[in-house]
Amino acid sequence: MSTILTRREMMKSAGLGALAFTLGASNTGRLFGQEKPPSRPKVYELPPLPYAYGALAPAIEERILQVHHTKHHAGYVKGLNATLEKLEKARASGDFSNIKALSRDLAFHGSGHILHTLYWQSMKPGGSGEPEGVLREALVRNFGTLGAFKAQFLAASKQVEGSGWGILAYEPMGERLLILQAEKHQNLTIWGVVPLLVCDVWEHAYYVQYQNRRGDYVDNFFKLIDWPGAASRYTAAIE
Ligand SMILES: [Fe+2]
Repeated sequence: MSTILTRREMMKSAGLGALAFTLGASNTGRLFGQEKPPSRPKVYELPPLPYAYGALAPAIEERILQVHHTKHHAGYVKGLNATLEKLEKARASGDFSNIKALSRDLAFHGSGHILHTLYWQSMKPGGSGEPEGVLREALVRNFGTLGAFKAQFLAASKQVEGSGWGILAYEPMGERLLILQAEKHQNLTIWGVVPLLVCDVWEHAYYVQYQNRRGDYVDNFFKLIDWPGAASRYTAAIE
């Protein structure tokens, strides 16, 4: 069996087709499987979950995943497309009096759509043990030990102020891995990073099941991580 996969094959096998266009910038568009820009901008669509709504139980109950995907994530997709339509109308009319609110909505809904798409991909039913191969080596190189990485990632995710995300990302200028917090969806990022693994810590991700015990939810999220999927994104990011 051939062990050499093209980047496109890897992304396809990792189920990342839905991310093909979401990250936008020149290199990152190709990172996620897009060969060339589309002839005209696409309408964003809600990608299907890569598993059944009940597949992550008992760590995350079916009722949470269903509402999270069909209401919350769908809302960001709808908001993103609606904002783009309003911007098109603003350009047609020349009326940019609402540009600050529209720009804010664009960043909020766009980041919400991208991060949720990655969130579903960050987990798999039953989890996958520990990271292996090049990603494992990179985690040790950047954070000292796997244990130190885990401790920082859990702490960052649990201590996001308000609604937001814990994010493992690759920063191409420094060629290093970073753990970031995002407040809401779009605040506190570094331009140009490629998110590899994301943990949603908005209350809608856990409150119905865990109430205020965000820490317990984050600990259980960590056990569900799809490490081979994160490794595929890392390999694509460093090419
Ligand atoms: Fe969410």
